Amino acid sequence: MNGQTVHFDRNAPVGIFDSGVGGLTVMRQIRRLLPQEHLIYLGDTARVPYGTKSPETVIRYATRCAQTLTVRGIKLLVVACNTASAYALDALRAALPVPIIGVVEPGAQAAVRSTHSGKIGVIGTPGTVRSGAYERAIRQLAPDARVFLQACPLFVPLAEEGWVRGDVPFLAANRYLGRLKQRQVDTLVLGCTHYPLLRGVIGKVMGPDVSLVDSARETARETRRILSAAGLIRNNGRPGKNLFLVTDNPNTFSGTGARFWGHPLEHVEWVDLNP
Ligand code: DGL
Repeated sequence: MNGQTVHFDRNAPVGIFDSGVGGLTVMRQIRRLLPQEHLIYLGDTARVPYGTKSPETVIRYATRCAQTLTVRGIKLLVVACNTASAYALDALRAALPVPIIGVVEPGAQAAVRSTHSGKIGVIGTPGTVRSGAYERAIRQLAPDARVFLQACPLFVPLAEEGWVRGDVPFLAANRYLGRLKQRQVDTLVLGCTHYPLLRGVIGKVMGPDVSLVDSARETARETRRILSAAGLIRNNGRPGKNLFLVTDNPNTFSGTGARFWGHPLEHVEWVDLNP
């Protein structure tokens, strides 16, 4: 926040954005924990993926997404994209007058709570891995922790195709996760919006002794904690509404997004981020 005091309405919506459909894994967990909140999701489907782009580009795109949600009067912004959280959180916090949470800090906190050996693996997009954001966040909490990072770029298209079981994702997971297994991590952070869909196959490859940390779930808990601490939980007994905004074709988003959301998606609208 940029210093000014702003009072928020508890009936205002929570804004959530991601580069595309993936952040629906985060919104789904928020909806589960906070059934009475109004939620507005923005998927920047015209510009996805963020995970392969430069920090400057990700910051620019993330800022436009955040501004678009802020003008709709949100009371809290959740940066549901790991890559955007990794690169843009500080810039967004400095620029916008709403409380902002990302997915990296909650994931890092859960990893530190879970590890016994202090050896933590983190998987994410090339951008998230290059940024070092998870490593910094974990080391801030546990300076002696050893953090091993691995980019798993093919997991994103696999999850979007719905190829989350069987030989193809298993072979990809085996290839990507071999080094982390060798390092004998006891905790693995699923540091990308799409990876919770591949949880089964990732768990199978890593084995039963490795705890998987789902950043989406942890972020939902953090969302509830922050709203509650600020006295901003909407609790008037009626279910909250969902609104989905996208920057490319709403029908394409509805098709792929339903797998991430777990139900058909209604109320999907197109928005222009460069009016
Ligand atoms: N949402 C992105 C993330 O969590 C994955 C997809 C992308 O590369 O944009 O990092």
